[in-house]
Amino acid sequence: SQVEPFDYVIFGATGDLTMRKLIPAIYHRFREGQIPDNFRFIGTARSQLTHEEYRERASKALSDFVNRTYYDAKVAAKFIEHIFYASLNGAEESGSWQNLLDLFTPKDAEKVRVFYLATSPNLFGQICANLSKYKLVTDNTRVVLEKPIGYDLQTANEINESVGKYFKEDAIFRIDHYLGKETVQDLLGLRFANPFMENVWSAENIDYIQITAAETVGVEGRGPYYDKSGAMRDMIQNHLLQVMCMVAMEKPASLNANDLRNEKLKILNALVPITGQKVAENTVRAQYQRGFLEETTARSYLEDLGENQTSQTETYVTVKAEIDTPRWKGVPFYIRTGKRLHKKVSEIVIQFKESSTTLFPSKPGPDRLIIRLQPNEGLTLSIMAKDPTSDEVALRRANLDVSFTQEFNIRYPDAYERLMLDAVRGNPILFIRRDEVEAAWKWVEPILDGWSKNITPLAVYSAGSWGPEEAKIMLAKNGHIWHEDM
Ligand code: BG6
Repeated sequence: SQVEPFDYVIFGATGDLTMRKLIPAIYHRFREGQIPDNFRFIGTARSQLTHEEYRERASKALSDFVNRTYYDAKVAAKFIEHIFYASLNGAEESGSWQNLLDLFTPKDAEKVRVFYLATSPNLFGQICANLSKYKLVTDNTRVVLEKPIGYDLQTANEINESVGKYFKEDAIFRIDHYLGKETVQDLLGLRFANPFMENVWSAENIDYIQITAAETVGVEGRGPYYDKSGAMRDMIQNHLLQVMCMVAMEKPASLNANDLRNEKLKILNALVPITGQKVAENTVRAQYQRGFLEETTARSYLEDLGENQTSQTETYVTVKAEIDTPRWKGVPFYIRTGKRLHKKVSEIVIQFKESSTTLFPSKPGPDRLIIRLQPNEGLTLSIMAKDPTSDEVALRRANLDVSFTQEFNIRYPDAYERLMLDAVRGNPILFIRRDEVEAAWKWVEPILDGWSKNITPLAVYSAGSWGPEEAKIMLAKNGHIWHEDM
């Protein structure tokens, strides 16, 4: 159904995220009739551009990043007419703000207004101060904060404080695009709409869990940001901990935003702290070296950064996390992410405990559920079946497989589509509450601290591999193996 009329104002509108994700996201929903005719998409950034010049960039973004099947030149042309641009230095206290103010008349206050901050987070506070100073904040205004929310607990608190001076918590939408992925939301359906799943979802039946977000891309043009951040801050502190919460949380009292977020928060608070020497046992950090990936040679991280670079930044992380609740006691959650890995895949592997039966000629292997978050969204349940070539009851593995795109025969929406419209709707269910950000930083910080003292030395891996040996060894110590080796 259609959302209310709105003005979406993007700070950081010439950046990669706006071009690759935000503009295509609104286009898709416009094409599908969910966006009312009088909406505006207003880009702001420091570059001096006319509306026309910015529209050209937006058109190019559509032709570059919208899949051919859904690209309709007529619709695109109509969509582009709703795009405007104001050259603006958001942190500046005067001057360029007039360019944005000029685009608003009192009548525009009747529409929903969303300010989407996709700039460096140290500007968030000043931008919000200016939004307030220039009276751009109406009763129907929300502010969306892109990650990263801070660099550590202290800076996260500072950002939350400074934004909180001008916006109430229910008007602040902290985005984590992993929650916008349909397959991440489907964890609710999978777990709580299927009693047979719900019944096996605990330490009694589950041996261990792997949560992987592997990428083939390197740091691309984002070196200066990434080198300060690293994989832990870029992917684990936010996306993968959120996914873990969705896997591990108890059933929420309702699907109301606070009930869901309360349950996620309980998981974050129940994470066993990894401190001191435990950092060495429970974490692996590594950086990619030259290698061979997607049929070509790939450069090392340092070469990707530029000439004569040195860096101790990790581009790969595995953390062995434990959740101290009755449901999960003793079940390791191996959470890993890396750049320049063998292939692009985000997935969850639930490894069930082996049967102890002696009924068969050989011991049955463990059942395993693979939840493919992306690509090829779907599920595979790997079970033991009778081997039809055997005249005894020998066993062999067979897969129950579902691909959601085939099953539902639909376009799988990008995460940003749902999230951008939810901000217009004022629905915070898939956004992160302040206490969740803080709890996540509290758990991550001692690990980063241990790394800065070199308690876990920085390992290496070849581009195109599945990561460093150290990560295999860590699992092997518990008799566990990674999915690709199963
Ligand atoms: C972003 C990170 O939040 O997520 C990027 O900053 C990463 O480094 C991206 O590439 C991965 O998202 P997705 O949806 O492609 O898995």
